[in-house]
Amino acid sequence: MKKIIKNGKIVTAADTYQADILIEDGKIKAIGNDLSDVYAEVIDATGQYVFPGGIDPHTHMDMPFGGTTTKDNFETGTIAAAHGGTTTIIDFCLTEKGNTLKSALDKWHEKSNERSVIDYGFHLQIVEASENVLKEIPSVIEEEGVTSFKVFMAYKNVFQADDETLFQTLATARDNGGLVMVHAENGDVIEHLTKEALKQGNTDPIYHALTRPPELEGEATGRAAKLTALADAQLYVVHVTCKEAVDQIADARSKGFRVFGETCPQYLVLDQSYMEKENFEGAKYVWSPPLRDKSNQDVLWNALKSGQLQTIGSDHCSFDFIGQKDLGKDDFTKIPNGGPFVEDRFSVLFSEGVKKGRISLNQFVDMISTQAAKLFGLFPQKGTIAPGSDADIVLFDPDAERYISAETHHMAVDYNALEGMKVTGEPVSVLSRGEYVIKDKQFVGKPGMGNFLKRSTFNKAIQKESVVTK
Ligand code: URP
Ligand code: ZN
Ligand code: ZN
Ligand code: ZN
Repeated sequence: MKKIIKNGKIVTAADTYQADILIEDGKIKAIGNDLSDVYAEVIDATGQYVFPGGIDPHTHMDMPFGGTTTKDNFETGTIAAAHGGTTTIIDFCLTEKGNTLKSALDKWHEKSNERSVIDYGFHLQIVEASENVLKEIPSVIEEEGVTSFKVFMAYKNVFQADDETLFQTLATARDNGGLVMVHAENGDVIEHLTKEALKQGNTDPIYHALTRPPELEGEATGRAAKLTALADAQLYVVHVTCKEAVDQIADARSKGFRVFGETCPQYLVLDQSYMEKENFEGAKYVWSPPLRDKSNQDVLWNALKSGQLQTIGSDHCSFDFIGQKDLGKDDFTKIPNGGPFVEDRFSVLFSEGVKKGRISLNQFVDMISTQAAKLFGLFPQKGTIAPGSDADIVLFDPDAERYISAETHHMAVDYNALEGMKVTGEPVSVLSRGEYVIKDKQFVGKPGMGNFLKRSTFNKAIQKESVVTK
């Protein structure tokens, strides 16, 4: 069915203007004034912003972690994402030592196929750079459309890879157009500090933060950036939380290295003091890297505004408070790390960023959608509103006010880390390839309507252009 969106204000990373959009066969067919088509359904977007669908480059759906499995699967998690204005997620596919990369991807396809309500892609974890793994990477890029690779520098004895693995992954990615992603914390030193804390009987959630100080994030970020420079590769640092890490990214970028960074809404609006809440409530706020001193919030906003950080990922990794987070009741190291944010990423950035004058409307679109599309090989199919692009569109009421709450959210977890927070601006309707997923705030989509996205390789030309035009 054709659709025409009328009377809305189109906002892209570059422009804000009033025009109609004609949608046909899931694509944006035309943009112009007074478009008409007798066969088209007319959608009136008076008073609304018309945004490209959000792209969340960092989710963990249905992922085994910390002795349990994340609460949201590809169905509940993507329904929540859609409610929040996100039309694409890129999820982390875990791998196992000794098994092929292809077998890990098969498992992730099984989890997501027939369940996801929005389009999705995968990043692939690299735990060891064995000969077989390195040999498989080119075909994963070319045949599977999986073009980004994640190396954990922390979570010792679980996910952590060594520097040789990171360096070899960087070199292989460089030769094949892959983008390497890092979780940058010094896992070895964290392991030591953690053991010391437990020895002294320090078991409360706050010790999660105290054993992972910002210096260890800065050190690992700098190390990864320097190895990237040495390998002449490209790097994307996930969930940047603090000045120590931002400084390392900014330094590498000032020297012309292809180093990019993401932060997450939790680090922009919450701080370390939440981890000291009574009655073990601090466990709701356990992320790695941890929430930081509040002074880091301004550092992160400024880094986003000045283009040192490019994207906002939710790092959606949801666990119930009762039954999952409480695995760490007597030992903070057993609290599953992560929190539910896929639904609120878009609204929080709009409300705290645009409405509070910290970033412009066009920067908002850039951070919430366009930059992720460019970095992860989806642009211009995704990430903008232009003729030929997928009709992934959010009709957004910029003045609606609501309070975030676990009572009303759509994520499968029993708490919301932003409980009671007032946000301004709300997605009203959300289209994925021209079909409604959310219509007037109601879910009208179907599990399985999301497609797996085979992504292009990292494109140096696109990145150069977008860095220069910032
Ligand atoms: O605490 C976090 N961030 N959990 C998710 C896994 C990761 O490190 O991204
Ligand atoms: Zn991580
Ligand atoms: Zn993560
Ligand atoms: Zn609903």
